[in-house]
Amino acid sequence: MITGSSMPTVVPVVPLVAERADQFVKLNHLGEFIAINIYRAQLQLCRWTAPTLLPLLAEFLAHEQRHHGLFAVVLAERGIRPCRASAVFGVAGFLLGMVTALFGRPGVMACTAAVETVVLDHLCQQLAYLRQVGEWRAVAAIESIVSEEIEHRDAGARGGGDCLLYKVLHALVAPSTACVIAIGMHL
Ligand SMILES: [Fe+2]
Ligand SMILES: [Fe+2]
Repeated sequence: MITGSSMPTVVPVVPLVAERADQFVKLNHLGEFIAINIYRAQLQLCRWTAPTLLPLLAEFLAHEQRHHGLFAVVLAERGIRPCRASAVFGVAGFLLGMVTALFGRPGVMACTAAVETVVLDHLCQQLAYLRQVGEWRAVAAIESIVSEEIEHRDAGARGGGDCLLYKVLHALVAPSTACVIAIGMHL
């Protein structure tokens, strides 16, 4: 007779995999919403602090809006709701965009490089996991945005250069973005 203590532990592998994939899709949807708010704020302030950046920022905003729409579709397909703290993170993103835009081109570029570097690293980790477990719809959505995120990161890295302001902002923004990733998946 098998007693309660000797019963084998049943690990629900498939639900855990789906739950992890849900978290990634939710996080990416949130991340795109934050990015939209960062670029919107920078577009407003850069009219005075870095007007030559406006066309680039408008282009990047259009990319982020497309990415956000894409993940909204995947969220709906999976029957999951967006992150509960989206509004708070959206305001934080807008404030980050405003503060960095006050510093003009170096501020905007440092913000872009820092945020997009952390985001890309995380997207690569997600892709490795999602391919391994066969979550192909989520893989396709991420693959369709990666080249534009690389474009954003590289433009930020080129535009910021080696100035001290760039390094300071980068040092502040990168860990903040990592925190958003850690928190955003669980709300
Ligand atoms: Fe994006
Ligand atoms: Fe981006």
